[in-house]
Amino acid sequence: MRVMHVTDEVLGLFAAAGGNNYAEQVSMEQHALQAAALAGASGASDALVLAALLHDVGHFLAEPDSEFGVTDHGTTGGAWLAERFVAAVSEPVRLHVAAKRFRCFVDPAYEEQLSPASVGTLRLQGGAMSATEAEAFEAEAFAADALTLRSFDDGGKVADLDIPALDEWRPLLDSLEFRL
Ligand SMILES: [Fe+2]
Repeated sequence: MRVMHVTDEVLGLFAAAGGNNYAEQVSMEQHALQAAALAGASGASDALVLAALLHDVGHFLAEPDSEFGVTDHGTTGGAWLAERFVAAVSEPVRLHVAAKRFRCFVDPAYEEQLSPASVGTLRLQGGAMSATEAEAFEAEAFAADALTLRSFDDGGKVADLDIPALDEWRPLLDSLEFRL
């Protein structure tokens, strides 16, 4: 029961809020689908593909606090997923905003690759990490996965891309392997 329930919860969130754009070129649903497709094509683990599909779920769980959506969506999305999925799914999501701030610290040119909306949220999220914050981030068990997820996130913003629909991810969403 729980298995189907969680899939329905996820699909329900996409149905309710996936059409929002939050100042990007693509809807949140398209963005999630593109991130998941990039993850799948890269040969990432199924857990990380699932994380890519669900990485912005935090935007669906609260009212937006800016034109860019929910500033703290990494933390809130990660916490929501941690109640439903294994850490290999929830932790990269929890850390994907931190991963952006980390990359800006280690590579100042990275910011130029970000979409305008992502730069906007970066400001609200505190900008590039300090050296102390970066050290703490690197000590996280899923730091590397969060950085990989970040590349799927950044790449998943292409207008008018023809890719598999949400329903095609249902078997992965239903998979018991990644559920608590
Ligand atoms: Fe994203």
